[in-house]
Amino acid sequence: MKISIFGLGYVGTVTAACLARDGQEVIGVDVNPEKVALVGAGKSPIIEPQLGKLLAEGVATKRIQATTDAEAAVMASDISLISVGTPSTERGETDLSYVFNVCKEIGTAIKHKTAPHVVVLRSTVPPGTLERCQALLTDTLGIKAVHLAFNPEFLREGSAIRDYDAPAYTIIGTEDPIAEAAVRQMYATVNAPIIVAKPAVAEMVKFVANTWHAAKISFANEIGRIAKAFDIDGRDVMNIIVQDTKLNVSPTYMRPGFAFGGSCLPKDLRALLYCARTMDVPVPLLNAIPTTNQLQIDLAAQAILRSGARRIAVLGLAFKSGTDDLRESPAVLLVKHLLGEGCEVKIYDKAVEEAWLVGTNLAYIQRNIPHFQALLMEEPQQALAGAELVVVTYNTAEFRQVLLESAQGIKILDLAGIFTEPIEALEYQGLAW
Ligand SMILES: NC(=O)c1ccc[n+]([C@@H]2O[C@H](COP(=O)([O-])OP(=O)(O)OC[C@H]3O[C@@H](n4cnc5c(N)ncnc54)[C@H](O)[C@@H]3O)[C@@H](O)[C@H]2O)c1
Repeated sequence: MKISIFGLGYVGTVTAACLARDGQEVIGVDVNPEKVALVGAGKSPIIEPQLGKLLAEGVATKRIQATTDAEAAVMASDISLISVGTPSTERGETDLSYVFNVCKEIGTAIKHKTAPHVVVLRSTVPPGTLERCQALLTDTLGIKAVHLAFNPEFLREGSAIRDYDAPAYTIIGTEDPIAEAAVRQMYATVNAPIIVAKPAVAEMVKFVANTWHAAKISFANEIGRIAKAFDIDGRDVMNIIVQDTKLNVSPTYMRPGFAFGGSCLPKDLRALLYCARTMDVPVPLLNAIPTTNQLQIDLAAQAILRSGARRIAVLGLAFKSGTDDLRESPAVLLVKHLLGEGCEVKIYDKAVEEAWLVGTNLAYIQRNIPHFQALLMEEPQQALAGAELVVVTYNTAEFRQVLLESAQGIKILDLAGIFTEPIEALEYQGLAW
């Protein structure tokens, strides 16, 4: 393949060197003539292990060229990669001017080409950017034979070539089969699973990945602060935490849905926050967790009230499926909120219905919804009868069946991701999808 790469910074030079090593012909393009001269001479413009050696080999085998001439590079290639900078403005907004400038340059050159051209955006950009690039090329510049994909880069400076060679996955954000095929071919030698996604999903994934990394670092640092205050080595604590790959470092608890609750998470989080307070240890990230969890309950209540519905069926009252534990269940707090707003609520929860509630569990529900027995229905159909809206708080096969069979004409608010796609016959909305 012949590939032009716009932007010879960290991402661009590493990609150029690795693609050339893997047999592709690469033309690097940059507005900075010094970088172009360095890369063209087989020298690295940045400090990065192995990079100088690969660039030198690429230039020696004539697989790497570099130029400041955008048009010549596009004319001589089938694919253009965009890896220019996307810095923050003072307000924190992404400055996309470099991306759009390159798009215009590529577009102007494509106009002189007869063969179709593929443009792959590799810079980190906010969701919707590839669509804007597409509009710029097709609507503004009137180009028809162009195929676009977003392909985020996950390399880390310092181990960039190792990361390029063994990424967790290659994401191709496109709905264009020609662009998808070109990116697949470009990475034919990279041993990683390929995930094809909608462009905006792929764009968001890159932001979320970096935000998650930032949150993990801050989380570990806050734990370290509290640990030290109690004369504990925070590294010892986190060393053990990361060894649980079932619950701690795993896909568990990593799906958007309803709030957390139950007899442990809220209580133990409160206890750790108390520990931090007693030692005057600031933990703003941990402090924000109860606030954002309560917000998830409030937002569900607001979505219900905004719909105009006042006769509400609730499927699932316990804090999760398969238990009768109502303590600090977000569904209980949601029902309490709705009752306070004058809604008529009917609840179905098999486990709670059958259960013989005792002890703190019984005390909790009696304190929050004293007449809850009167609201509990024996069958799900009784809860749905006369309801204007049904809210589902957790995901079970039973609830899915009930909704498919009996929820026609009733609005559905899904807090648990019970349907992956909206069902046409049902009036359905989710909180995060
Ligand atoms: N650095 C990283 O570790 C890393 C990792 C993953 C993703 N990213 C993302 O990749 C993108 C590039 O990052 P970087 O660190 O390589 O940036 P960089 O600042 O090192 O390089 C960007 C290059 O683009 C060039 N450029 C600007 N306008 C141009 C134009 N019109 N034509 C040709 N070249 C032009 C600049 O001269 C510069 O050399 C950013 O969106 C960044 O967020 C960076």
